[in-house]
Amino acid sequence: MLVARRGRAYIGDEQRLESAMTKITYVTSQGERIETEGENGSTVMETAIMNAVPGIVAECGGACTCATCHVYVDEDWREAVGGPSMMEEDMLDFAFDVKDNSRLSCQIKVRAELDGLVVHVPTRQG
Ligand code: FES
Repeated sequence: MLVARRGRAYIGDEQRLESAMTKITYVTSQGERIETEGENGSTVMETAIMNAVPGIVAECGGACTCATCHVYVDEDWREAVGGPSMMEEDMLDFAFDVKDNSRLSCQIKVRAELDGLVVHVPTRQG
């Protein structure tokens, strides 16, 4: 028997059959940890906006044309997240204090392999 609970589907004794949600933690520039669940297929930026994460502005709404959704991917997650596309790299030139682990959060798709992802919010955008 399938039982839907909090965006997840379970079978029998609650063994997870399929997860539609992925845990993402945002660490603000003040060190506050905001734990969220993002819907798979959405983006890390959209999850931040849905959860009112301070410091993620996302002026362009995810079109990769503003760089105000800049985050630092936690070192433990860099490989799983991967690097930016050429278009994203060009846009990162407009972000504040860019580092090797900088990404635009609107370009990171939420997916099951990123369950537990940690990203850090810069002190300011743009
Ligand atoms: Fe504008 Fe990500 S929301 S570049």
